[in-house]
Amino acid sequence: MDWRTKLLNPAPLARRDYASLATPVYRGSTVVFENQAAVNDDWQQAEKGYSYGLYGTPTSLELSARLAQLEDARHSFIVPGGQSAIALVYMAYCKTGSHALVPYSAYGPNKEMAEGLLRGFGVEVEAYDPLIGSDISSLIRENTTLIWCESPGSVTMEVQDIPAIVKAAHTKGVSVALDNTYAAGVLFDAFAFDVDVSIQALTKYVGGHSDILLGSVSVRDEVAYSAMGPIYRQLGLAVSPDDCSLALRGLQTLAIRLDHLEKSTLQIANWLANNEHVEKVLHPALPDCPGHELWKRDFTGSASVFSFMFKDNWSAKQAEAFVDALEHFKIGLSWGGVTSLAVVYPDLVRPGKDFKGRLVRLNIGLETPDDLIKDLASAIQKATAG
Ligand SMILES: Cc1ncc(COP(=O)(O)O)c(C=O)c1O
Repeated sequence: MDWRTKLLNPAPLARRDYASLATPVYRGSTVVFENQAAVNDDWQQAEKGYSYGLYGTPTSLELSARLAQLEDARHSFIVPGGQSAIALVYMAYCKTGSHALVPYSAYGPNKEMAEGLLRGFGVEVEAYDPLIGSDISSLIRENTTLIWCESPGSVTMEVQDIPAIVKAAHTKGVSVALDNTYAAGVLFDAFAFDVDVSIQALTKYVGGHSDILLGSVSVRDEVAYSAMGPIYRQLGLAVSPDDCSLALRGLQTLAIRLDHLEKSTLQIANWLANNEHVEKVLHPALPDCPGHELWKRDFTGSASVFSFMFKDNWSAKQAEAFVDALEHFKIGLSWGGVTSLAVVYPDLVRPGKDFKGRLVRLNIGLETPDDLIKDLASAIQKATAG
């Protein structure tokens, strides 16, 4: 054999029976078949065997199977991010002429997609009050195919009455999709509440270290699985095995991170709730949060992201000065990682509400909470001095 051919000879030379405890990273697009008769080009690799890296490798399908087991799902599709998870759900459930409902507290780019791409495709997406509960029935039309929920909502943290919404939707044959990122897929048991599809930005708690972008779309049953799979294939939502490997690592510490973050976050939220400069704290476990009673009824815990509002004697400029004065808290938009973050939402659109640039969102990380409290106190003092 010429040395050039040797370079390309794919036959394995090393043993392949390494029983690694950690899931290996399979970087591969192309599957080699035993013979022509064995060739298959199906996305259902878990059932029908490996066909092509786009529909999963042993690394991404391990992540998929672990998430499905954790969430009691029929299957979890792994996608490049939380936003592509949202896109996949819209594409699977809506077509030209469809009507969908999305809470106005939903993640911003979800609503942007509704008003942008989907409107262009002739899909009408209507925003609804996240606290509507069973009255959602009155918004369901003949052509309604999908109701989105996100609980608690992004930034304003409204907890939704998911059982009431699911009941109203299913009575009229409409499917319900939930953005379950806050609950990391575990603090709210989506499928026990009969939600049809539960998505997560794995970027947040499952990844847990701000170093990957990844998402999941978990489906409850065979009907949702068959609706989603072909669209997943058509959109070609490839994921990196390296990112999946980091998500698998993140899963191993998810429980201890969530437990620790819940305690630290509650300590800080309670400190803020008692601060003379703070009007209210929007944390699902605190009574000022809209839907707090529903959180107590339906959730098994709380996470690390919440918002608070400075009193009305604070200006938007002071809220900005407060964030700029923080030292341990970094200024950033994401959450769920190990570092504390703060950001002001100056242009938050919520019908009938004007936060006047006084709403700040925090993500609590793994720093010692007493240090974070000192940081908040010192930044409040700097923002109010002079
Ligand atoms: C609630 C929620 N859903 C979805 C996303 C989108 O996730 P990704 O950044 O992985 O696309 C985010 C990101 O901030 C989010 O906060």
